[in-house]
Amino acid sequence: MPTTEWLKKEFDYGYDSGNVLGLLPNKVRRSEEKRIGGSYRRVFKQAILPFLKPDSRVMELGPGNGAWSRAILQHIPNGKLITVDYQDVTQWLDPEQFEGRLECHQVNENSFSCIEDGSIDFFWSMGVLCHNNQKHIGEILRNARPKLKPGKFACHQYANWDKLEQYGWRRGGVPAEFQQMADDEIWWPRNNQMNMVSLSVDAGWTVVRPDLKLLQRDGVIQLRNASSV
Ligand SMILES: C[S@@+](CC[C@H](N)C(=O)[O-])C[C@H]1O[C@@H](n2cnc3c(N)ncnc32)[C@H](O)[C@@H]1O
Repeated sequence: MPTTEWLKKEFDYGYDSGNVLGLLPNKVRRSEEKRIGGSYRRVFKQAILPFLKPDSRVMELGPGNGAWSRAILQHIPNGKLITVDYQDVTQWLDPEQFEGRLECHQVNENSFSCIEDGSIDFFWSMGVLCHNNQKHIGEILRNARPKLKPGKFACHQYANWDKLEQYGWRRGGVPAEFQQMADDEIWWPRNNQMNMVSLSVDAGWTVVRPDLKLLQRDGVIQLRNASSV
């Protein structure tokens, strides 16, 4: 099944990463952290928190059940979180509970046409780019960049097959057979740090750090929108 079609169907149950900010991980988070080789709390503190101010406008791609969204909302009491997902995430994240601070968009493609240009302070995703093939990552990065205010930042977790090879396919929860399959047949398409940097640069971003080195299995890239257009 092509990766995009699979993606649109697969996560209709609302993928959950657990209590990302808790001092002690709950069961869901503990099992994910084992596969990803890192602490979600540490990821939040180092890849998200430094970019948030109380009134920040944050864009999140692929919130699923909203584990990261809820954590972000705690830190932007006067700001707004705008989510974009193939799923209708309002089943799990109810905008009415957040008094105008949460706006959720269900989309069918990667245009980000629902978001105003130059309106976003920080762009985040976890567990999203790792499931998109390189053509779609390129589209996402190219179309999302103009949504950010000039000089603002983005951080994204991405698949890195070089790290996965070191970490171990079984330990990382990714079937080793994927190595013999084409990208549009698998849910963890090929990517690595070099590709991710080149896709980001082609999409007009400045790469601040290609990998924040927070996860043993995957990369987390930090980008800056240096341009005003
Ligand atoms: C594995 S879940 C991750 C959920 C959440 N970020 C987390 O880490 O707990 C991936 C989510 O991203 C969404 N998604 C993946 N690719 C997308 C795309 N190109 N555009 C919109 N949503 C996408 C899926 O529908 C799904 O809800």
